[in-house]
Amino acid sequence: MCGIVGYVGSQRAVPVLINGLLSLEYRGYDSAGLAVLNNKNIDVFKNQGRVKNLTDNFDLDSVASKVGIAHTRWATHGKPSDLNAHPHLDNSKTFAVVHNGIIENYDKVKKFLIANGYELYSQTDTEVIPNLVHYYYNKLTNDVEFRQAQMLTYSTRYSSVDDVLLALRCATGDLTGSYAIELLASFSPDQVYIAKKDSPMVVGSGEGENFIASDIPAILQHTKNFYFIEDGELGIVKPDGVTFFNGSLEKINKELKSIEWDAEASEKNGFDDYMLKEIFEQPRAIRETIGTSIVDNAIALPELDGVDFKKFNMIYIVACGTAMHAGLATKSIFENLAHIPTIVDMASEFRYRNPLIDDKTLCVFISQSGETADTIAALKLAKEQGATTISVVNVIGSSITRVSDYVLYTHAGPEIAVASTKAFTCQVTTLSILAMEIASKRIGSSIDSKIKELCKELSHIPDKVKEVLDNADEMKSLAKELYKSKDVYFTGRGFDAYVATEGALKLKEISYIHADSYPSGEFKHGPIALIEKDVPVIGIATNEDINAKTVSNLLELLTRGANVTLVTNQKIENPEIQHTVKIPECSPLFASILAIVPLQLLSYYVAKEKGLDVDKPRNLAKSVTVE
Ligand code: M6R
Repeated sequence: MCGIVGYVGSQRAVPVLINGLLSLEYRGYDSAGLAVLNNKNIDVFKNQGRVKNLTDNFDLDSVASKVGIAHTRWATHGKPSDLNAHPHLDNSKTFAVVHNGIIENYDKVKKFLIANGYELYSQTDTEVIPNLVHYYYNKLTNDVEFRQAQMLTYSTRYSSVDDVLLALRCATGDLTGSYAIELLASFSPDQVYIAKKDSPMVVGSGEGENFIASDIPAILQHTKNFYFIEDGELGIVKPDGVTFFNGSLEKINKELKSIEWDAEASEKNGFDDYMLKEIFEQPRAIRETIGTSIVDNAIALPELDGVDFKKFNMIYIVACGTAMHAGLATKSIFENLAHIPTIVDMASEFRYRNPLIDDKTLCVFISQSGETADTIAALKLAKEQGATTISVVNVIGSSITRVSDYVLYTHAGPEIAVASTKAFTCQVTTLSILAMEIASKRIGSSIDSKIKELCKELSHIPDKVKEVLDNADEMKSLAKELYKSKDVYFTGRGFDAYVATEGALKLKEISYIHADSYPSGEFKHGPIALIEKDVPVIGIATNEDINAKTVSNLLELLTRGANVTLVTNQKIENPEIQHTVKIPECSPLFASILAIVPLQLLSYYVAKEKGLDVDKPRNLAKSVTVE
């Protein structure tokens, strides 16, 4: 997840671009850069680090250009570095591109470009874009037959073809994945070309000037009038107007909409808090996390080339807090699918209990920040004892990624709220993919059809999360009932027991209500003594093989006075249960990704009802860098 800004108009571009980047830093902050048109040349200024580094390191006050594009990066392909920072130029330095999104087939495009004489210098997926535009621009201007074919394909109703736009359209036709692209051409003064698919982009309209951005906040100080760019659309942005095109390069009219946001609301994209914004970002975050690791319903994890999965006789999954719950929620996938004993451990315990580790042990570490002190220490210990280490991390280039033998990145984007939400669902997604990879490598072709079915199933999860989010108001109403409670209990069996544990952690950390979780079968062994009239109990039941038992345990609590809410994707119609929250059906292996979402929403709305600071709960830090 990155942020982009663009400007064409009568002011100096640099201040507009820099201010825009500063308000987009929540989308990424590991490197920043900008490119401006300067008398048929493109000047690029970029470096690793925050936007402030740009103004500190370059004399931007002397840059007079009135046309420019800019980018703040959250690394996905290629570690944070000056070289990998955007903008990227093509080999001839004719085209400059900033890009938000992931080009899934960049490796294939890269090979094509290299075969056609291009050199690629960075490790990014983005650098293929300006070079591919250059390739097509060259072909359009030198190959008459090719040009005619493209004119027929795209431009039958668009007589005065802009060759750069046509080249950009040809290039995007070759790209799979997501993109919001801004493109400068050194010979086209006063204009920025844009294209979008599955990554956000708005164009802000001003008097004799126009603005482009990933999100409204970046340009809200300049205009309140916006065009919202849809997938597949392209445009040419000039000072006196914007021309939009559909994917066939037909001109289209877009409605200009006025936004009445204040600056603070806009930073959160209209959401009241980062936590709510991050909860609602989950469909995109999960989709990007699946990204290129599932291709044609098979697992593709080149990051793990070289790991001999057959040699392991056990797996430790080690992490803290929510990240550890992601490990618990996927433990059974490793065991049931890959047939390998799997232990999930808290990093703070693992490191002090002399775990049995040798070179036949695989240790998997999970961390959003990649900086959690206990997880780093546990990782170092595992390495010292000869284990193979794989880490599942969100922040590129963080400490854990530098120590670990292998790294799988989640692509949740920056998580700012202390309560982890989108990082959890992305961790479960990546761990599920890892479990399938291990199963495939250990068991061989006899499991192929099962994996294929599961890959298909996982690919539909982002849309199903969206369905759960569409019913957020249900949890808002429930929160109004629960927010005065002193205690809340969560329960489930199997995978659902761990969703219960994560649900309880979410509620206690942001609402300060005492919340606990027990596997449903355990209540009778003690905790049932805590149940009295009106105590809220949230049950989760997503596996038809064990639902009946969970429900029967819930009824036992209900007869002792509990106020029961059941989160389920099964047809359980029990009139005695006070509330039933329906979520979409899916394989029990991935149901935790769907089942946690209503619980995240419930915690959020309960904390709001109590008037608490949701994003910064008391006593907690986002990253726990001390043990
Ligand atoms: O950055 P990490 O994933 O390593 O952080 C681990 C925990 O500190 C973190 O998940 C914590 O439990 C969250 N506050 C939970 O919402």
